[in-house]
Amino acid sequence: MEQEKKDVLILAIETSCDETAAAVVKNGRDILSNIIYTQIKLHTVFGGVVPEIASRKHIEKINPVIEAALEEAGVTLDDIDAVAVTYGPGLVGALLTGVAEAKAIAFGAGKPLVGVHHIEGHISANYIEHKELEPPFLCMVASGGHSHLVMVKDYGEYEIIGRTRDDAAGEAFDKVARAIGLGYPGGPKIDKLAREGNPKAITFPRAKISDSPDDFSFSGLKSAVLNYLNHCEMKNIPVNRADVAASFQQAVTDVLTEHTVAAAKRLGINRVAIAGGVASNSSLRGQMKEACEKNGMTFYYPSPVYCTDNAAMIGVAGYYEYIKGVRDGWDLNAVPNLKIGER
Ligand code: KG4
Ligand code: ZN
Repeated sequence: MEQEKKDVLILAIETSCDETAAAVVKNGRDILSNIIYTQIKLHTVFGGVVPEIASRKHIEKINPVIEAALEEAGVTLDDIDAVAVTYGPGLVGALLTGVAEAKAIAFGAGKPLVGVHHIEGHISANYIEHKELEPPFLCMVASGGHSHLVMVKDYGEYEIIGRTRDDAAGEAFDKVARAIGLGYPGGPKIDKLAREGNPKAITFPRAKISDSPDDFSFSGLKSAVLNYLNHCEMKNIPVNRADVAASFQQAVTDVLTEHTVAAAKRLGINRVAIAGGVASNSSLRGQMKEACEKNGMTFYYPSPVYCTDNAAMIGVAGYYEYIKGVRDGWDLNAVPNLKIGER
């Protein structure tokens, strides 16, 4: 008689920045629970993430968040097959909290430990709601710390096609938001204000890197916005913040969409995905969808809750590592500048 295939349950932990998160993921695609304690309010008063505060809050919240994830999934540690944890890139103190916690749980419960790359987690968020999606596909990852165009060749096999030469897209959103007095985190606030503005009101630059068409740059765009604001102040011209937000957002959206679609065409790949915090941007989602449709490409994007930091995406990436046989030892350490595809 054929033996029934057992479900694989992964307990995943994510603490790389300012979200303390835990999730239980079944067979790499079904999210049984996804608990996120966001520290955003604590950091808002400082205008950005304060690493020391983030680490302390992770220590305080990690146990209740994990307990809630197990409870919501209706499982105990005995039912879990492996513990997956983000070990880089990110803030070292924040990462260490999750890594130490995952090691303690895995060791205590006698379960295997799997270290996961944060950006590979972001990319894997696309598998959650698109059950039919399988590699190969091209993914634009745009978050607060990273902007990469990544070819997903197979599960856990990545090739970086292009990257930002300076600021990450999310970083540009955060800096411009601060300059127009919106505060941290800038992305969602610009997204909201931009709906009331005219994206064609101000022409901001769309940088091109002459020696590398797949790379992009956002620092010139950020400076152009700051120069525009200074110019208005000096000449006593009133600033329409909604127009600035909409015109800036349009420039970022154009750059990310054009680079992604051009690379997909050149590589002959007709499946395109987006990931990371900036992937929850409404303008980017709309324009990418349109451009993909126009070019006969299928477009994949996660729900906003799976775009910003969460542990469900770590559980998905961790599952594919686990079934490939990847195991980490008790010497697993936080690697703040971990590269994609490295181990
Ligand atoms: O992926 P994520 O949650 O954390 C990192 O790994 O960095 O991304 C956070 C970034 C922040 O810069 C935030 O401003 C940006 O994503 N973001 C957005 C939106 N929501 C979050 N940017 C543009 N539009 C949004 N709706
Ligand atoms: Zn992230």
